[in-house]
Amino acid sequence: MDKSFFHFEGRKIYFEQGMSIAAALLCHGIKDFRQTQVLRESRGPFCMMGSCFDCLLIIDGIGNQQGCMRLAEQGIMVKRENSYPL
Ligand code: FES
Repeated sequence: MDKSFFHFEGRKIYFEQGMSIAAALLCHGIKDFRQTQVLRESRGPFCMMGSCFDCLLIIDGIGNQQGCMRLAEQGIMVKRENSYPL
């Protein structure tokens, strides 16, 4: 069976069925998901249960999505969330 993957900033992120997007990214060593608005410090998943909002990502063009609360799906496009204009 082929492994499923999604896209993350030019990389293919392979995942097992039932994994969250955050878990899949962590399994690939990606820990920084967003930057804070004022100090531009990196933040990444902490609680993994929808409480801390440190796992925010842009998923299929929609910002402020909690990576820990969304199941990974084949072919979706995921980017880091930056709270300031680039
Ligand atoms: S890791 Fe805390 S809300 Fe997602």
